[in-house]
Amino acid sequence: MSLDLTAPAPDAPDVAEDGVWLECIETGETYAPFDEIRYTSDGGHLLEVKYADPPALEDFEGQGRGVWRYRDALPFEEGVSLPEGDTPLHEAPRLREDIGVNTLRIKHEGMNPTGSFKDRGMTVGVRVAKELGVDRLACASTGNTSAALAAYGARGGMQTLVLLPSGKVAAGKIAQAALHDARILEVDGNFDSCLDIVQDLAERGEVYLLNSLNPFRLEGQKTIGLEILEEFRDDYGRFPDRIVLPVGNAGNTAALYKAFRELVQSGSLDPEEVPKLTGVQAEGAAPMVEAVENGWEDTERWDEVETRATAIRIGNPVNAPKALPGIRQTNGTAVAVSDAEITSAQRDLAREGIGVEPASAASVAGLRKLRSDGVVDADEDVVCLTTGHLLKDPDAAFEAGNEPEPVANSTESVLDHIGAE
Ligand code: F0G
Repeated sequence: MSLDLTAPAPDAPDVAEDGVWLECIETGETYAPFDEIRYTSDGGHLLEVKYADPPALEDFEGQGRGVWRYRDALPFEEGVSLPEGDTPLHEAPRLREDIGVNTLRIKHEGMNPTGSFKDRGMTVGVRVAKELGVDRLACASTGNTSAALAAYGARGGMQTLVLLPSGKVAAGKIAQAALHDARILEVDGNFDSCLDIVQDLAERGEVYLLNSLNPFRLEGQKTIGLEILEEFRDDYGRFPDRIVLPVGNAGNTAALYKAFRELVQSGSLDPEEVPKLTGVQAEGAAPMVEAVENGWEDTERWDEVETRATAIRIGNPVNAPKALPGIRQTNGTAVAVSDAEITSAQRDLAREGIGVEPASAASVAGLRKLRSDGVVDADEDVVCLTTGHLLKDPDAAFEAGNEPEPVANSTESVLDHIGAE
């Protein structure tokens, strides 16, 4: 199986171009990477980008910073860049102590140019769009993908069309898509129906699809995993035991797993050194947790989903067939958390100076829960991924934070109000 952690590096088929090709994850059928526009195999299964020569960690040394440092692990040497990646791996000492793990670092993807990890996928995806010669890019989105697509599409001089679930996208994200000149369609349905429609448009040749169903998006997102491993090793001389991340479409889970598989192939990682991939969903939108708990190969679609973490308000995670083997083969797990636990984790992070949107805080909420259930041990080295910036969802921040206090216009009133002597 091509998704096995220990599968050897494949031999390039005849369709490969410069050692790169597309492969069906179910049947192993191969396709040329840029001859035609293709998102899935002929049988409708997910595709992966394959390389004849996956790079070792040493190959990235001296290659700059950010996503394109990892160009040897990507299908191109450079992309449409703002630039992206090279995000901080924050310490959070009070939170570490409170949760009770050996090491806790927060990889803050909210520090990308448009404020989420989606930029890593778009720098590669929009480059591929240029290669294919398309001019109209589109996505369905809970918000962040639309902001990134709009910005990178604008940068690349292309038109962008985004489909959003009406009334369920945080204000900061719509503002970004609007100002970066996307055409915004608000659909009376949830994210999953928006994605169904965009897939139809893409099949009819109306638009080039840049959701994470597009295998090239995940190539860019692999670099989150590569950065974490390099940064952690530089700081501690070892790799983390576990990476905890919020899950919506399971694109990041699939992408990190792919990064690690390729490093195993090149001999940079032993299979037992691969961090345990641990996914966190909101209780009201947890089909991946259900699939992991039941040992399923794929998720069952949830038609009704609800959570305050609107970014992960998703009932049909398209990348589940890639992500579920990743969670299992790294001995990871998946857990659901309540909206109240998410809000509380958002406050905890904020009190360490790390401002994230609700979906991002799910990772920390999940870690806390798994630690108190004894699934995560006290001696573990853990990295939590925070996927989007606090300012993406200002309304959620107001609700979770302190109330502004009105006060009269004088020093005396202010002193009086704050209870000064
Ligand atoms: N966190 C944030 C802030 C997100 O925006 C998303 C996905 C996820 C986590 C989930 O990541 O899909 O790789 O499991 N947002 C998409 C969007 C769906 O449209 O912006 P995943």
